[in-house]
Amino acid sequence: MQQVQSAAATLDADPTIEMAREIAEGFARRPKEIPAKYLYDALGSKLFEAICELPWYRITRGEHSLLAAHAGAIMSASGGCDTVVELGGGSGEKLSVLLAAAGGRELDVHLVDISPAALAQSERNLAAHLSVTLHAHEADYETGVREALRRRRTDGRALVLFLGSNIGNLSPDQAGHFLQELRRACRPGDRLLLGADLVKPEAELLLAYDDPLGLTAAFNKNVLARLNRELDADFDLLAFDHCVEWNPAASRIEVYLVSRADQLVCIRGAGCCTSIDEGERIWTESSYKYEPAGIAEMGARAGFTVREQWIEPESRFALTLFESES
Ligand SMILES: C[S@@+](CC[C@H](N)C(=O)[O-])C[C@H]1O[C@@H](n2cnc3c(N)ncnc32)[C@H](O)[C@@H]1O
Repeated sequence: MQQVQSAAATLDADPTIEMAREIAEGFARRPKEIPAKYLYDALGSKLFEAICELPWYRITRGEHSLLAAHAGAIMSASGGCDTVVELGGGSGEKLSVLLAAAGGRELDVHLVDISPAALAQSERNLAAHLSVTLHAHEADYETGVREALRRRRTDGRALVLFLGSNIGNLSPDQAGHFLQELRRACRPGDRLLLGADLVKPEAELLLAYDDPLGLTAAFNKNVLARLNRELDADFDLLAFDHCVEWNPAASRIEVYLVSRADQLVCIRGAGCCTSIDEGERIWTESSYKYEPAGIAEMGARAGFTVREQWIEPESRFALTLFESES
């Protein structure tokens, strides 16, 4: 029978206090910003799962087909790892594909996600893997991976999964810093499997983040509903439009909420009231897009060597297996 060792929160700080601080800081910036991690409350996590089903959002299908084709090679190139850590795994469906290729090996599997709803869904989706002991960490990537790797019970290797182009939400500086911290938490020989979306025609990119059914718009606006509920804010959701731009110089998709009118909004839980002008944009998400060589260079700068890289040509998505250097 599968063991679930910890389904409890591991966040050190009170998440609401942390959220209030980050939201107040974000609204003091120009443009105003809401960190993308706050998109994932329970409804946001469900909306994201629905977005993955959209024909225009090809990241999930592209990565899934690479995993299905190469799961055996990934697990054998991971040299008999006995600890697997997935960062921001969402529903856990991709991890399930890899675990199925582990041949019933006993594994400690750590799920790190900021969303309790995503962790619960992941635990349900992984319940069939009976040789696995699950450890759930409700935490941000850095805190969670440090804790997961510190709690390793053996001298065996670890395989860290950072899939779904989650890294694309981080700026190049943040991604570089994160990979360096990850490298410090790893032992030599540990593996990192990084999924990253590649640059593709602008029209395709825009449709992935602004779909004709309006699901991506709902996912974006839901963050305001979350602030209303959790931080006693008074955003009128109908007073904002979803807006997406491709920034070729920065190689990123930028996602905004644009105010339809001059308005005053109070976020009482964050101790701030702010005026928002008609046409003013609140930046809610960035999604950086890469070239295969750039992914390898980003890993190398942090002390990871490429063992293999697989590209899905239709959706233009890359999976790169790195080894932590000694
Ligand atoms: C874009 S979804 C991708 C999910 C999954 N990797 C996939 O490919 O389908 C991002 C996931 O990471 C989680 N997440 C976002 N920011 C995070 C952060 N800073 N720390 C931990 N988890 C985070 C979200 O809750 C969500 O489950």
